[in-house]
Amino acid sequence: MKLINSIQEMKSLRKNVRGTLGFVPTMGYLHEGHISLVQQSVRDNDTTAVSIYVNPTQFDPSEDFQAYPRDLERDLKLLETENTDIVFFPTNAEMYPDDYCTWVDVEKVTARLEGEIRPGHFRGVATIVTKLFNIVQPDKAYFGQKDAQQALVIKRMVKDLNMNLEVMVMPTLREKDGLAMSSRNTYLNPEERKAAIILYKALSLAKQLKEQGETATANIRNKMELLIKNEPLARIEYISITDTQTMEELPALASKSLVSMAVRIGKTRLIDNLII
Ligand code: PAJ
Repeated sequence: MKLINSIQEMKSLRKNVRGTLGFVPTMGYLHEGHISLVQQSVRDNDTTAVSIYVNPTQFDPSEDFQAYPRDLERDLKLLETENTDIVFFPTNAEMYPDDYCTWVDVEKVTARLEGEIRPGHFRGVATIVTKLFNIVQPDKAYFGQKDAQQALVIKRMVKDLNMNLEVMVMPTLREKDGLAMSSRNTYLNPEERKAAIILYKALSLAKQLKEQGETATANIRNKMELLIKNEPLARIEYISITDTQTMEELPALASKSLVSMAVRIGKTRLIDNLII
């Protein structure tokens, strides 16, 4: 496994890769969700590169950039076990030098939900992912459905800017009780961890209501809201039922609809979604 932190070194290594290169961008503190993306890339490609970089520009000043969990040593051990070929962990100084001034802004699909609540978030994500794509030059890049809007933003950007790679979106990995795996789950104390299953319970309720014949999204949202309000540690930021491609809110369920939500459990902000 090659460990690389210089952009120049990564670029010259890329020139010598034969066959296809798969790429998994991450912010580290890896869990099984990340690892499932790495495994898919290893299955699909001759060479797999993973990046670990906590990107400061996608965090709001009020957000958890400093506190975001980091453990490079542990991450490297995990990646070694998975037969990763290249790990790229650039420095802030090289990624954003003092004179840095170029940004990638994806419109429309960023207008609502995460984009609305976290202004500038997707600009930071689109910019860092573009930079990583330019440095690593993958044939395929792997993202998780866990961050449904992010995956859509990246797909849109790759299409609109004619980037030369394929975006692969992989299913959300969950804990046994249904909680979606996330690096931020480490913020939860034992009581909050128990309360956090309310997100998956509410998504499952939406699925069940659809199966029972409910089509009005307002009714589904109301019932999900009532369920979550029964959990004293939970505070809803949004519950949304949208088109899976445009992220436009649906009055009635389509054949496939994206149910997504952001809920605070204590101070921790969790997101989850399900296509029903
Ligand atoms: P991070 O939160 O570390 O996630 C890296 C990738 O893992 C993302 O594509 C995310 O959707 C995926 N992922 C997270 N939890 C998952 C789960 N439970 N199951 C399946 N996949 C999961 O997302 C980012 O980093 C950053 O925004 C990044 C794209 C790296 C840009 O900085």
